[in-house]
Amino acid sequence: MGAYDFTGKVAIVTGAARGIGQAIALKLAEGGANLAICDLNAEWLEETKAKVEALGVKALPLAVDVGDGEQVAATIDAVVKAFGSIDIMVNNAGITKDGLLIRMSEADWDAVLRVNLKGVFLFTKAVARIMMKQRSGAIVNIASVVGIMGNPGQANYTASKGGVIALTKTTAKELGSRGIRCNAVAPGFISSKMTDVLSQEVRDKYMEQIPLRNFGTQRDVANAVAFLASSEASYVTGQVLSVNGGMI
Ligand code: NAI
Repeated sequence: MGAYDFTGKVAIVTGAARGIGQAIALKLAEGGANLAICDLNAEWLEETKAKVEALGVKALPLAVDVGDGEQVAATIDAVVKAFGSIDIMVNNAGITKDGLLIRMSEADWDAVLRVNLKGVFLFTKAVARIMMKQRSGAIVNIASVVGIMGNPGQANYTASKGGVIALTKTTAKELGSRGIRCNAVAPGFISSKMTDVLSQEVRDKYMEQIPLRNFGTQRDVANAVAFLASSEASYVTGQVLSVNGGMI
C-alpha cells in the first residue's frame, strides 16, 4: 500500500504509456485504485497494464487522442461501463514542438495547443458530467514550471501550460460547489531519457538554477499528484503545486 489510500477508487490517467504518466498510474495503483490508462495507441500501454496489474488492481487500456472530443467522450463512457464511477482524473498527456517564436509554424502552434490545452478541456468537460452526478471527484492537471516562467523556444508549449494553470483555477471555481476539486502540478526539470544524455556542461548550467541541485524524478511528480488526488487534500483546490527543486 502506498502512502495514500485509493482503495476502490477509479482513476483515469492520460499519456500513461510511459514517463511521468506511467509513474502516476503506478503510484495510484499502489494506493489501491483501479486504473483506466489512456494513450494514443493501446499496444503502447501493455507495459503499464502489466505493472499496474502486478500491484493487484485492475487496468483498462484505452486508445484515445486527447484532442478529439468524440474519442474523449467514448473513453469516459467506456470507463463508466467498466468501473461504474470515476473518482480521479489526471490530465498528463503532453507534447512539445519547440522553435523560436518568429520561426514557429501555425501547425506546430496548433498541434501543441490541441494536445496540451484542448485535451485537458475535453477530458475535464466529459468527466465533470460524471463527477457532478456523484458530487465528488478530483482532477489533477500536469502543467510545467515554464508555464509560469516562460521559456525561449517554447512559445506554444509555455502558452499551453500557462493555459492549463488558468483552466485549473476556473474549473476549481466552477465545480467546487459540486464537490469536485481541481489542482495542477507544475514539474521543473525531471530526469528522463532526454535529460540523461545531456552533457555535464549543460547539466551544470541547469543545476545553477535549481537550489536542490538535482533533477527531479518521475516519482517526485507522481507523489505530488497522489497527494492532490487523495482525501488528504480535501480542502485544497485551484492550486498549483510546484515540484521543481526550488527553481521558482
Ligand atoms: P512523454 O513524452 O514521455 O509521455 C507523454 C505520453 O503522452 C506519451 O506516452 C504519448 O504517447 C502520450 N500522448 C502524446 N500525445 C497524445 C495524445 N494526443 N493523446 C493521448 N496521449 C498522447 O512525456 P513526459 O516527460 O512523461 O511528460 C508528461 C507530462 O509532464 C506532459 O504533460 C509534459 O508536458 C509534462 N512535463 C514534463 C516535464 C519533464 O521534464 N519531462 C517537465 C514539466 C512538465
